[in-house]
Amino acid sequence: QDPRLPRISSAIRVIPDFPKPGIMFQDITTLLLDTKAFKDTIDLFVERYRDQNISVVAGVEARGFIFGPPIALAIGAKFVPMRKPNKLPGEVISEEYSLEYGTDKMEMHVGAVQAGDRALVIDDLIATGGTLCAAIKLLERVGAQVVECACVIELPELKGREKLTGKPLFVLVKGA
Ligand code: PRP
Ligand code: MG
Repeated sequence: QDPRLPRISSAIRVIPDFPKPGIMFQDITTLLLDTKAFKDTIDLFVERYRDQNISVVAGVEARGFIFGPPIALAIGAKFVPMRKPNKLPGEVISEEYSLEYGTDKMEMHVGAVQAGDRALVIDDLIATGGTLCAAIKLLERVGAQVVECACVIELPELKGREKLTGKPLFVLVKGA
């Protein structure tokens, strides 16, 4: 195991019963306050992806907007925001996905990603996998190849990994 991982893991604060009873919220804002652990987090992703010809880093709103851009800059890839509905001003394609209660929509600008782009999807956390699955679908609909999905945290008990239709998933730490 990489010696940088324990500090990253400890820097993530777990807040019980947020946003509702029974949920153990994995709070990455405390990771952002630990300058070494935050830098190590970005470095671990950059080391993994710098030589993989990634042309697009797709970051999922909201917390994929924190981790995605520094990775994109470091590996020389475009950054593309995958947004909540009705936020992007240009022409979009959208994909519905299910949440614990109800559904939500994810949108991407048409023209941001081209057929043949090699994409990396970044988010802070995978729970049920519905969010990453929607991001994969949007990218594949425009002909991009999704090389991998990467998150800081995985909640393995929710088996989100199995929803990714065989796409590789890389995570730094596991939570409960
Ligand atoms: C959280 C988290 C992931 C998603 C994972 O985001 O940041 O994006 O849930 O859940 P899933 O694997 O079950 O789909 P949330 O939807 O709470 O929104 P936010 O990032 O904008 O706060
Ligand atoms: Mg999110």
